[in-house]
Amino acid sequence: MSKVFIAGGSGRVATELIKKLVAAGHEVIAGARHPEKIVAMDHVETVKLDLHDDVATIAKLMQGASVVYFVAGSRGSDLLQTDAMGAVKTMQAAEQNGIKRYIMLSSLYALQPAMWTKIKSLGEIMDYNVAKFFADNYLVHDTNLDYTILQPSSLTEEAGTGKIQIGDDFASTNPIPDVAQVLAAILEHDNTIGQVILMGGGNTPINDALANI
Ligand SMILES: NC(=O)c1ccc[n+]([C@@H]2O[C@H](COP(=O)([O-])OP(=O)(O)OC[C@H]3O[C@@H](n4cnc5c(N)ncnc54)[C@H](OP(=O)(O)O)[C@@H]3O)[C@@H](O)[C@H]2O)c1
Repeated sequence: MSKVFIAGGSGRVATELIKKLVAAGHEVIAGARHPEKIVAMDHVETVKLDLHDDVATIAKLMQGASVVYFVAGSRGSDLLQTDAMGAVKTMQAAEQNGIKRYIMLSSLYALQPAMWTKIKSLGEIMDYNVAKFFADNYLVHDTNLDYTILQPSSLTEEAGTGKIQIGDDFASTNPIPDVAQVLAAILEHDNTIGQVILMGGGNTPINDALANI
């Protein structure tokens, strides 16, 4: 059992992730600017988190956790302070607390700028790509965290299938419950530490796909 801190705790992915982490026996501290929108259930503590705050303030919210998930995002409205620097501040806060494990929800090809102009839909969200690059690149190169970065293609609100493919099939999409299940399962697969995982919908059961990384 771990105590897990989730940044972006009221989001679509986070809501599913929290349920899966609790079902797996973990305790959760979930943070967002509007904590009342975080799913209310046993084993979940809600806190007010604003990624505009300084690192020390964010670090206090994480105290007692041994794992940090970043699943926050501004939907394009505040990319610099939320998706980019907000993410970096959660990494710095984790390190201040001596937390080692850090799991980042990123997006397909965030660390491969050469791909952004090759795929029309990525070319249309260039500022978002840059923000995610900034955060992922900092995590890999400027922290000592035991990171895993998950880079899915587009998210959908379809029902989960429990099956994925690892790799960069940009044409495939990802039901949100599957992305949440992968994020939760990453915590159980230490072979994912230090890995950047590109994923899409597929035919491989999630635990098998992660075990083979
Ligand atoms: N959409 C896609 O196709 C796609 C594809 C690949 C990856 N992703 C990634 O997946 C992430 C999660 O997606 P989602 O649909 O679950 O997002 P979402 O529903 O928009 O949730 C975003 C979360 O971030 C929080 N947040 C926003 N600004 C914040 C701030 N300044 N301080 C603290 N919390 C803040 C929101 O809560 P409050 O507003 O209450 O603060 C909310 O909990 C996206 O951000 C994106 O990076 C998306």
